[in-house]
Amino acid sequence: MRILTGVQPSGKLHLGNYFSAIRKILEYQHKEELFLFVANLHALTTFSSKKELEENTMSAALDLLALGVDPEKSIFWMQSDIPEVTELTWYLSQVITVSKLELAHSFKDKVAKGFSPGAGLFTYPILMAADILLFSADRVPVGKDQKQHLEFARDIAERFNAQFGDLLVIPEPDIDEHTATVPGVDGAKMSKSYKNTIDLFASEKEIKKSVMSIVSDSKGIEEPKDPDDSIIFQIHSLFLDETGKQTLRDRFRKGGVGYGDLKKSLLEAILDRFAPYRKKREELSADLGYVQSSLKTGRDKARSVAFGKIKEIRAAIGIYSSDF
Ligand code: ADP
Ligand code: TRP
Repeated sequence: MRILTGVQPSGKLHLGNYFSAIRKILEYQHKEELFLFVANLHALTTFSSKKELEENTMSAALDLLALGVDPEKSIFWMQSDIPEVTELTWYLSQVITVSKLELAHSFKDKVAKGFSPGAGLFTYPILMAADILLFSADRVPVGKDQKQHLEFARDIAERFNAQFGDLLVIPEPDIDEHTATVPGVDGAKMSKSYKNTIDLFASEKEIKKSVMSIVSDSKGIEEPKDPDDSIIFQIHSLFLDETGKQTLRDRFRKGGVGYGDLKKSLLEAILDRFAPYRKKREELSADLGYVQSSLKTGRDKARSVAFGKIKEIRAAIGIYSSDF
């Protein structure tokens, strides 16, 4: 089965991104055929500067390689290295109507926040559909927030097939409806835009600062504490199996341990879990040659799949090409 997903390079990864999305993607690598790319063209819809785009793009590639993407096992590339994707976007934009695109929540939300949208933001779902359909993906793991975009991709594929013949694979969404929203240090959804994140690759000092700033109630050391009402507990649970969770629950309920110590235990869990990845990322940032050659290997593999498919698509539509 072919699994495909894209990660938009939008800054620093945090625990919410890792536990909801990245961890699951990485597991697929050992079981299925994984196609994974950095969606740097999608990032243009929130462009602020060339410098930021360049930094975020390289940072996303580094993050994924450090977390365990193996360019030998999966196909890992940079979206902009495959020009057939933007070509397919144009073909697909003929089969979806403006009124349908106007229903996109992500578009409507940004407009409601006062953002003056470019046409690129409006057609964002078509580019995403092209990413998926060009590579004939069977399943697409994404967060709940991307559910509607996946529905658009399926709809576009069905319309295209109805008009031009059964060429495109209808992708299945792979969305964990039950994945809990990871809370930030203030208890709201962990999100870059709320500045309440615990970042995976920040310095130890910064991670410590974030953990120590987690909001708690004012119960004293001796008092029993309610784990189910605690952000510290909710975040720490992500690192634990059922037995571990029970032990931690008991520690909260018994009393005699202050929030300061509970935060210290959480800090240890975070640093322990991510230590090997953090080390790998440091090594990789000192050797960008490896990152570049990985992306080149991925580009070559992805491009040969893309090229085969786009030729079929051009022929089905009746697009002239001087290549026979
Ligand atoms: P942010 O809200 O920080 O900008 P993104 O929108 O870049 O995060 O999210 C990338 C992915 O991580 C999406 O699949 C999204 O569903 C997931 N994600 C982000 N924050 C959380 C969270 N707090 N809990 C669960 N999943 C999250
Ligand atoms: N829009 C996705 C996100 O923000 C990223 C993405 C781009 C993607 N193209 C894709 C995800 C294709 C899955 C398949 O998370």
